[in-house]
Amino acid sequence: MGNRLSKLDILLHGCDYNPEQWLGYPEILKQDIEYMKKAHCNVMSIGIFSWAFLEPEEGVYNFGYFDEIVKNLTENGIKIILATPSGAKPRWLAEKYSETLRVGKNNIRDIYGFRHNHCYTSPVYREKITKLDRLLAQRYGSNENVILWHISNELGGECHCELCQEAFRNWLKQKYNNNLNKLNHAWWTGFWSHTVTDWGQIHSPTENGEPNAILTGLYLDWKDFVTYQTTDFMNEEIKAVKAVNKEIPVTTNFMGPYQQLDYHYMKDFVDIISWDSYPEWHSSRGNVFEAHSIAFAHDLHRCLKNKPFLLMESSPSLTNWLSFNKLKRPGMHKLSSMQAVAHGSDSVQYFQWRKGRGGSEKFHGAVIDHDGKAEGRVFEDVKEVGVLLEKLSGVMGSETKADVAIVYEFKNRWAIENAQGFCNIDKKYKRTCINHYREFWKRGINVDVIGIDSDLLKYKILVLPMLYSISDKTIDRIEEFVANGGTVVATYATGYVNENDLCYMGGFPGGKLKEIFGITANEIDTLYEDEANFVIMNDKRYKVIDYCELITPASAKVLGTYERDFYSGKAAVLENSYKKGKAYYIAARDTGELLNDLYQQIIISEGLEYLQLPYGVTIHTRQNKKEKYVFVENYTEETQTASLCGVYTDVETGQIYSDPKVFLDKYDIRIYRENL
Ligand code: GAL
Repeated sequence: MGNRLSKLDILLHGCDYNPEQWLGYPEILKQDIEYMKKAHCNVMSIGIFSWAFLEPEEGVYNFGYFDEIVKNLTENGIKIILATPSGAKPRWLAEKYSETLRVGKNNIRDIYGFRHNHCYTSPVYREKITKLDRLLAQRYGSNENVILWHISNELGGECHCELCQEAFRNWLKQKYNNNLNKLNHAWWTGFWSHTVTDWGQIHSPTENGEPNAILTGLYLDWKDFVTYQTTDFMNEEIKAVKAVNKEIPVTTNFMGPYQQLDYHYMKDFVDIISWDSYPEWHSSRGNVFEAHSIAFAHDLHRCLKNKPFLLMESSPSLTNWLSFNKLKRPGMHKLSSMQAVAHGSDSVQYFQWRKGRGGSEKFHGAVIDHDGKAEGRVFEDVKEVGVLLEKLSGVMGSETKADVAIVYEFKNRWAIENAQGFCNIDKKYKRTCINHYREFWKRGINVDVIGIDSDLLKYKILVLPMLYSISDKTIDRIEEFVANGGTVVATYATGYVNENDLCYMGGFPGGKLKEIFGITANEIDTLYEDEANFVIMNDKRYKVIDYCELITPASAKVLGTYERDFYSGKAAVLENSYKKGKAYYIAARDTGELLNDLYQQIIISEGLEYLQLPYGVTIHTRQNKKEKYVFVENYTEETQTASLCGVYTDVETGQIYSDPKVFLDKYDIRIYRENL
């Protein structure tokens, strides 16, 4: 990267640090630095919510206290991630310039309050924040201790104001080459007489106008535009800070398989990916469920740039915004922090350093509690992670090698979740992707979670769960993948519509997909929540729920058939040979066993290395040219064992083992290094 971050040879360990809340408590600010060192923290993110302090009145700047914070951190060797403070606006800005306040889906403009709710189109907001950004860059950019820009905070949400409507119309004019006929066709406006005859008639989807699911083409364009415009706002901030100093890379903190923005678009504009991870450990869903779900999200972020990412925020103990805010049980902090590293993070960072005295986050987990002591269970847990990260510095920058890719598409999610049809309560797109992912996770197989525009040809297995919306171009790329010897796995509801949500003509799945899978999907049956069917495959009976698609096989071989209903005996699981590759089609939603057995078969026939691990135990690896790091994780409450082949050094103890049998306590993680 050739920037300050890439020159580091340490994994980052630190927090969001909000000293503004403590300016009246100088003894606390002094103590913070001492405690940070004690906690083995080497980085702090500052400035995230500092606007009202840095610019208390329009054009009046106050950097004094910030200079002091920057100086203290720098002198004590604590690196700085410097945020642009656009995530929360000062009151004076909202009072003087109402255009900076967002207009909601109800067409009502907000009054001042909350955060993350500015109009991202507003020229005034852009002007005021980029001026402050430039000043921050000029004042602190030459400090080598500032290693990264944290642009805004958790960008998201929508604004429906007139400025945004105008920008949306202009974006559409460009997309449709000023041609309303093209737009009318893409949005299928002949439906319910919704023909657009003038660009000025176009309005974003709102509650009292065009709801999301009526013209899905409009909704999909709006979602694309919101991503585009949010990115455009972010880019103005990036431009402002980079104009001053190019050595400091930029990131913005993403939020997992988030529904609102398309991170596959945004990823190209930042230098490194970072994200905020808040799992619900110890819930009734179980830690194994949580573990593979979060692993999926970590892998998604790693694959955005196919490079290590940063865990920008996590809780050192509990959150405060869930329905039930449970403490992390002993062991879970180390396990969940190292899980992020196992999946490609080069940092473990927390929200936040110290619990505030007031405000809604006063009971959110933090490294320093209201008792003000650098001791106790949470502090010791954090320190243990800091010490371990210091021993893991060799991991920095190492890569994850994966032969399997699962496609998770933000745009597909928008399309399928807003389709009126199937089950209208919850289509479970994200969960379906994670269920397929789990089959590899539990066998210790690294997986890439990718967007469909990624390079597909490097994988052996490509999984397309519910990829309902597929463009012609994508169909060609899938064809190329299978024709070249790849194995593709798809499910019910694949290839129904194109990128504008227009149904494919001539039968599903669209175009050449029928040939690739050797089938036609004729109809899809949605089951009630208390209904089930069964699939018979290799003389075994599997329960299926939610969806049963009715398939007519052409060249495909039938592996499993439905047991019940009027489609009893008809194909439910199929395998097709296509040119040099193979294509599997699963027409019904299984409850776990079917995917387990089918993927076992596929993994063996593809010759992928896998491990037979106890339930809730898994292994993930990262490697560089010289070494491989092996993370052995136990998410269960029981003591477990796992066997490894080869010579390994335990990173924590320095002990060397040959073909070790690894003993894992409850919530244990062992990390080994293998020389390559
Ligand atoms: C994040 C946010 C932080 C803090 C945290 C609490 O979403 O970026 O500022 O609010 O949640 O969990």
